[in-house]
Amino acid sequence: MPQENSAAGRDARYMLHGYCDLATNRKLGSSVISGGEGIYVYDENGTIYLEGAAGMWCTAFGFGEEEIIEAAVEQLYKLPYYHTLAYKSVNPAIDLAEKLSQIVPIDDAKVHFALSGSEANDFLIKFTRYYNNSIGRPEKKKIISRINGFHGATIGAASLSGIPVMHKAFDLPINNIVHITEPNWFHNAYPGESIEEFTNRLTEELANVIMAEGPETIAGFIAEPITGAGGVIIPPENYYPKIQEILHKHDIMFFADEVICGFGRTGKMWGCETMGIQPSTMTLAKSLTSAYQPLSALIINDQMYQGMEKGCDQIGFFGHGTTYGGHPVSCAVALKVIELFERRNMLTHIQNVSIHFNDHIAKLKEHPLVGQVRSKGLLAAVELIADKKNKRFFEPMGSVAKRVKDCAEETHKLIIRQVPCGDTCAFSPPLIITENEIDDMFGRFTLALDQITDELTKENLINVY
Ligand SMILES: Cc1ncc(COP(=O)(O)O)c(C=O)c1O
Repeated sequence: MPQENSAAGRDARYMLHGYCDLATNRKLGSSVISGGEGIYVYDENGTIYLEGAAGMWCTAFGFGEEEIIEAAVEQLYKLPYYHTLAYKSVNPAIDLAEKLSQIVPIDDAKVHFALSGSEANDFLIKFTRYYNNSIGRPEKKKIISRINGFHGATIGAASLSGIPVMHKAFDLPINNIVHITEPNWFHNAYPGESIEEFTNRLTEELANVIMAEGPETIAGFIAEPITGAGGVIIPPENYYPKIQEILHKHDIMFFADEVICGFGRTGKMWGCETMGIQPSTMTLAKSLTSAYQPLSALIINDQMYQGMEKGCDQIGFFGHGTTYGGHPVSCAVALKVIELFERRNMLTHIQNVSIHFNDHIAKLKEHPLVGQVRSKGLLAAVELIADKKNKRFFEPMGSVAKRVKDCAEETHKLIIRQVPCGDTCAFSPPLIITENEIDDMFGRFTLALDQITDELTKENLINVY
């Protein structure tokens, strides 16, 4: 129980946080982070933590990158705010839209700015409706999404997400969202089913769902190239080629949610490149500004834009927009982030250090508590299991990952994410991480794993071979 007049005590008293048990949060409070430098953050007591999750998968340049801070301050002096609605615009938003349209894998891309990944995905639903209404296909509105995908917290974005706790008590999902099986072979394969058979089954499922719903009713398929918050799920190699063949056949667009995967996280600039996806639209956020300012971008292809413009001719107005979309300070920060990305050869750096990162992850596979590891670029998951040989998961699922995560944080001062896919700990460190820091991060994690393995052995909860 935090002291009533401490920051944690006041936090518990006055703030209502997300993704937590409210009563527990009120009783225990939160740990209050007050500063950071590089890949480390410190709390109000001065305890230093290695941030193995880059905050919420987002601080690409770590904490305290001066050039980004200066870009924000400079823009605040120049023009702290102006909107980009009703025939007005601002230079940083124009420059950023131009830059993004040059670097995304979408020809003649148009860029719409919002503040969060959730908002951008919500707007994607609206744009899809506007587009299809405009071109005379009002029945083509449904979006296929995947169970365990995460696309945000607004009513629309939470509906696209496939995580049950985000739906039930909120009366979601909204209409016209159809969820299908996620490409998670480790959890979803039938006994004895090969990866190839699993991929074929999922492809067939998609084809069947499209036929059952009616291809003329389905506008798009949304996916994170690699599922992040749902467990760092890397689909089998043949999955996207097969999926895209079916989508193409039925004139269904691929909506790529690059909120986590974008900006080098998976080893290439875009998750779409890493996974061989040709998207019609992309949603960007998080590393777009290294999370130093809130900003997201919804990027659409020319076909969608032309349809929307045509609709606007008919309706006379595009009835959509937000006060802060294209905020000059956020856009100035994003421009600086992209400049640093290029000037510092961040992609080469990521490709170099990710070899070392992936070696560590591969070694963890040998640990008695680890059932599966998954990694690409600087994104990884370590899934824990009670019995490796007989593939027995812990019950209740998630309880042991929580113990490891808590032990890593409390005892070894390493912050990682626990994700809702069995017992999984996820890593997505700031992209500036060095090899020595990677050693430090996995050293701390291994200490936590060993400690919890000893405890579980004493409690007779795991089988060690
Ligand atoms: C893939 C993905 N899409 C969308 C979102 C929502 O972004 P935001 O939290 O900025 O609304 C997230 C957030 O974690 C995400 O991981």
